[in-house]
Amino acid sequence: MRILEILENEGERQFVHTLCFVGVNGAGRTSFNGTERQLFLLPPGAADRLPDNSSGFVVSAREFSPSGFLSVQECLFRIRLSEDHGLALLHPEKSGFIPLSSACSFLRPFTAGIITVSDKGSRGEREDGSGPALAAEVTALGADVLFTSIVPDDHEVLVPLLKEWSDGKCLDLILCTGGTGFSPRDVTPEALDAVGEKHVPGIGEAMRAASLKITPRAILSRANAVIRGKTLVISLPGSTKAALECFASVAPALRHGIEILCGRDSECGSNPV
Ligand code: MTE
Repeated sequence: MRILEILENEGERQFVHTLCFVGVNGAGRTSFNGTERQLFLLPPGAADRLPDNSSGFVVSAREFSPSGFLSVQECLFRIRLSEDHGLALLHPEKSGFIPLSSACSFLRPFTAGIITVSDKGSRGEREDGSGPALAAEVTALGADVLFTSIVPDDHEVLVPLLKEWSDGKCLDLILCTGGTGFSPRDVTPEALDAVGEKHVPGIGEAMRAASLKITPRAILSRANAVIRGKTLVISLPGSTKAALECFASVAPALRHGIEILCGRDSECGSNPV
């Protein structure tokens, strides 16, 4: 599927673009080439339905979906049906340039939860940076972050929570941040081992391999990953910088892994990106 047209409706004039930059401005609103505009997804032949002062992408009607996510180049949009216009409204979760004729695809959202494992954080003595930062990154992969929690470095607290979110809430992905190091209170990898039915060693290996290019201390994280039922559980270090660096090294493969785990994708040779 491709972007067939990039349209901008200024009210009095309608423009056809060959390239645009789509992002979110300081007020959290969609911007199109630097101007605040609502952004719509349109089927072919619907250009005249584009509301005033908005922009739109035309894509082929065959695969048209008014929900989930749209992935175009480096951009990711959340799709919602606009009640005002009856059109699919796009909200950028990841900003970027979009040339005309870009390949694009609809993505089904997956569900995620983020657990910050920190004694100080759970007592309110330290602001949680890594939890919200990871939530933003996982959303930019096309996830709905349904639950977040801050818990102490306590095996007896973490294990039941992981079981509840995987067995009870049936989340596709759980990210834990913190408690992967050498301190006597660091028990996150052991909690994952206790709930995991399968180990996923490649995720910890990839995080350490990538992180070792940044800091020799990368080897001090015992970050790991397991599968419980249909849930992938990943532990990451606790500092915001380390958590984001580690997540970036495994993020490109996560959607494919999750889709196989959920039984939505069995074709490993396809979609190598
Ligand atoms: N990985 C990356 N990418 N960047 C970092 O700064 N810090 C390391 C390591 N992994 C780091 C990293 C350090 S200093 C420690 S102690 C361990 O992660 C464990 O962190 P945690 O106890 O907060 O989980």
